Amino acid sequence: MRIDVLTIFPKMFDAVLGESIIKRAVNKGIVKIRLYDLRDFTDDKHGKVDDKPFGGGAGMVMAVQPIYNALLSVTGKTSKGNKGVKKDLKVILLTPQGKRLDQGLANRLAKCKHLILICGHYEGVDERVRHLVTDEISIGDYVLTGGELPAMVVIDAITRLVPSVLGDEDSSKFDSFQGGLIEHPHYTRPRIFKDMSVPEVLLSGDHDAIKKWRHKEAVKRTKERRPDLLKNKN
Ligand code: ADE
Repeated sequence: MRIDVLTIFPKMFDAVLGESIIKRAVNKGIVKIRLYDLRDFTDDKHGKVDDKPFGGGAGMVMAVQPIYNALLSVTGKTSKGNKGVKKDLKVILLTPQGKRLDQGLANRLAKCKHLILICGHYEGVDERVRHLVTDEISIGDYVLTGGELPAMVVIDAITRLVPSVLGDEDSSKFDSFQGGLIEHPHYTRPRIFKDMSVPEVLLSGDHDAIKKWRHKEAVKRTKERRPDLLKNKN
């Protein structure tokens, strides 16, 4: 999978891309992530990528031109109104107005060959950017200072789903939300900590009983904490 990120703060990504599972996936060449500084694509002689809103009002608006040029450079084409963008390419604008990211959407995105993530900023992006993208994604109903953290969330959520990124032992198959339930509880050593002990069934070696217990606990937990997930099931 290839992921290109268009941002005015490429350095923000260092911490996330340079650690743990994402770093491993990048080092193995399973996921190729490239960062593009939008300031490198502006025609403005002072390097500006934003401007005042037409009609007045507070804040600045991210201009369409640097984003258009960056997209042209990355793909050779822009997505709307042309035949050149491949089926398995998604051009995604991170915005609080987008479709809310959930596990289902992460699963679908993880199947794409090529994603371009555009990190919005300031008061917002020029409306014409919306004509250049195939999708708009939000990571939740709250407003962040920019699209960088949301882009990192998207990268993290989908990278771990790309085949062979996770080893068998940390497979994503049984993650919370994958089966429409949140996950069962986990325990590791010691068997007793203070006065809290590990449920007997997990020490029994009876794999059938363990499977049943885990399912029961997942259902119980989902009922208690996220009854909305059960409502959405079937
Ligand atoms: N940019 C600012 N807030 C955001 C959010 N919640 N999701 C995606 N992009 C954003």
